[in-house]
Amino acid sequence: MVLTSISTPARGRRVHQGFRMVVAASSAQHLPVLLLLAVCCCCCYSSADDDVDFIYQGFQHASPGADLTLDGSASVLRGGALRLTNDSNRLVGHAFRSSPVRFGGGGGRQLASFSTAFVLDIVTVGSGGGHGLAFVVAPSTALPGASPEIYLGVLGPATNGRATNHVLAVEFDTVLDLEMDDINGNHVGIDVNSLFSNVSEPVAYYAGDGEGSTKVPVTLESAQPIQAWIDYDGRTGVLNVTVAPVSVADRPRRPLISTKLDLRPVFKEDMYVGFSASTGKLASSHYILAWSFRTNGPAQPINLRRLPKVPRPSTAPSKLIIIKFAAVACAGTLALIAAAMAVVRWLRKKAALADKLEDWELEHPHRFPYKELYRATKGFRQSELLGAGGFGQVYKGVLRRHSGEEVAIKRISAGTKQGMKEFVAEVASLGRMRHRNLVELRGWCKHSDDLLLVYEFMPNGSLDAHLFGAGGRKAPPLTWAQRFAVLGGVARGLLYLHEEWEHVVVHRDVKANNVLLGADMAARLGDFGLARLYEHGADPATTRVAGTLGYMAPELTFTSRATTATDVFSFGALLLEVACGRRPVEPPAAGGDADVVLVRWVRDCGLGGDLLRAVDPRLEGSYDEAEARLVLWLGLMCSQARPEARPTMRQVCRYLSGEEAIREDAELVFSGADSLEFIGSSVSITWSSSGGTMSAGSLHGGR
Ligand SMILES: *[C@@H]1O[C@H](CO)[C@@H](O)[C@H](O)[C@H]1NC(C)=O
Ligand SMILES: *[C@@H]1O[C@H](CO)[C@@H](O)[C@H](O)[C@H]1NC(C)=O
Ligand SMILES: *[C@@H]1O[C@H](CO)[C@@H](O)[C@H](O)[C@H]1NC(C)=O
Repeated sequence: MVLTSISTPARGRRVHQGFRMVVAASSAQHLPVLLLLAVCCCCCYSSADDDVDFIYQGFQHASPGADLTLDGSASVLRGGALRLTNDSNRLVGHAFRSSPVRFGGGGGRQLASFSTAFVLDIVTVGSGGGHGLAFVVAPSTALPGASPEIYLGVLGPATNGRATNHVLAVEFDTVLDLEMDDINGNHVGIDVNSLFSNVSEPVAYYAGDGEGSTKVPVTLESAQPIQAWIDYDGRTGVLNVTVAPVSVADRPRRPLISTKLDLRPVFKEDMYVGFSASTGKLASSHYILAWSFRTNGPAQPINLRRLPKVPRPSTAPSKLIIIKFAAVACAGTLALIAAAMAVVRWLRKKAALADKLEDWELEHPHRFPYKELYRATKGFRQSELLGAGGFGQVYKGVLRRHSGEEVAIKRISAGTKQGMKEFVAEVASLGRMRHRNLVELRGWCKHSDDLLLVYEFMPNGSLDAHLFGAGGRKAPPLTWAQRFAVLGGVARGLLYLHEEWEHVVVHRDVKANNVLLGADMAARLGDFGLARLYEHGADPATTRVAGTLGYMAPELTFTSRATTATDVFSFGALLLEVACGRRPVEPPAAGGDADVVLVRWVRDCGLGGDLLRAVDPRLEGSYDEAEARLVLWLGLMCSQARPEARPTMRQVCRYLSGEEAIREDAELVFSGADSLEFIGSSVSITWSSSGGTMSAGSLHGGR
């Protein structure tokens, strides 16, 4: 790899002055400039172009039609549970992911691997429900000829067993159908084009490992949430199914079913994934509480503490209680009669409330009543304040109605009426974004001149706090592996904004303070979209340049138009910051008179023949040298002054994931027009990528 820096003295100096101007102008604006707001996150991202990765942690944010295609008796309950059927007779319910998944079948080629995890809950009133549910992979979201009862809504008497069905189903069957050669009334089966299972097993999981493992039975109709995992390896053709009640802490190591299954003749190029359930004379309510799915990688783990609740049958227990109390009342005491009446009234009230839960909730994201947010933050009390900056204050809140769920609530004053209107429209649209590297927008609320935005709560705070102890938070220092994973996550989040969402979203304020860390230390990018929102209502005469000193691309001083390339520049600053543990611009060291600009310092380390000298000394040398060199090099690449010289986020992601290696003859040319000017001469550095250090090459005169 070769790094060259070429500049003439005169041009270099001119640009140098230009850069100083940037610094001066930006310092003057300081704080309120960075007005961007976090929105969103958590599903659907593709690394290779056709890969699919999504998670529904409850279905309350899934838009019917656009996101999930529901038919028959399927609906999403207000609390977020996906109900495929209620306990009425002879129902069929389907729920499919609306966009197809590319499996690459149909040509005899190797299929994509897939992995899915979901939580099901089957609630039966009285004894003996039916008929069960199935995870389905099918050529369309409409399953033609689907019948209820024993067909589970997947196939019908006319289609059962036909090779032209192209259907794979993994059934969770609660009825013993002799007609279908079922083994019992509580089994998992693998069905190919037919409801006669190719393989089936009584529902159970293996506790422990290897030979010493014991089989523990699981009852599907227990009305308890049960997690299932289905993994298919396209290379070996092995399909695994694992089941366990959610009360079991870890995923069982050994699958319940592991079978070789050639799905190449079954799957078409594109297939739809989803669920089907049916009832017959025997009937249960079939629910899916959460679902994650991924091709060519493990499905994201489901957060079992955030599962939606399902309505419990209230009629049976209430009758019982009434009868009991009536009996006691007959035995004599008026006091008990009164008590019984009170209980009945209470039960009625409860039933009335439960009915309300059945409503559709179509707003995306959810609009919260102000009262609820007021209560959640204890009246926006100072003690609940998490931080302030940018647009407004951020409070921690606890939503009682949603089972004590923690959220972060951002309070913004939205100036003019006009601004507010645009604001709300924009928030509603950004709220539909879901990506696991973006902070999820749960909902919003308008209250007089304030706008409140409700985000998922990030227990580990900001990257800033972990790198520099910013905001008074004492956070443990990050290891190299954590840093590298965080950078990869932020890159994927930005890629989603730039290229993978409905329209291009420029973040405009990528910086350590806007990278939040989830419970698993995974990076979530926050605070975007707001700068654009703010401009809708802003007075053009006072349009401010959004951004943060040290992260702002040089072209932003000439034009205030933020682009994806200006985001890449900021990301470059972040790369260097995380690798070096230093801020992009630091005040002059003792005795110095100029700010220390990180980019130049890293470049100088490279020019001095020891690029790795720039790595954060707090890591005490424990880091992966190849990764560190890659991060530093990429940081320099993204920091080039010419926007078109910077890589795109897609390229950055490919480099970071190792999908693409930086070419051995790659060159960064720092000409006089670049911020990375090298005054007095041009420089070429050869860099052995196979290890060792960067060594200084020849210094020669500028072009
Ligand atoms: C069950 O669902 C069906 C179809 O969606 C509906 O017609 C019926 O009224 C529901 N029954 C109950 C008891 O809610
Ligand atoms: C599944 O079983 C059916 C019927 O027994 C058989 O025709 C089919 O080939 C099997 N499919 C696979 C993929 O093993
Ligand atoms: C399926 O299970 C077997 C046995 O535990 C395991 O070796 C294999 O890697 C699993 N395959 C997939 C695709 O998960």
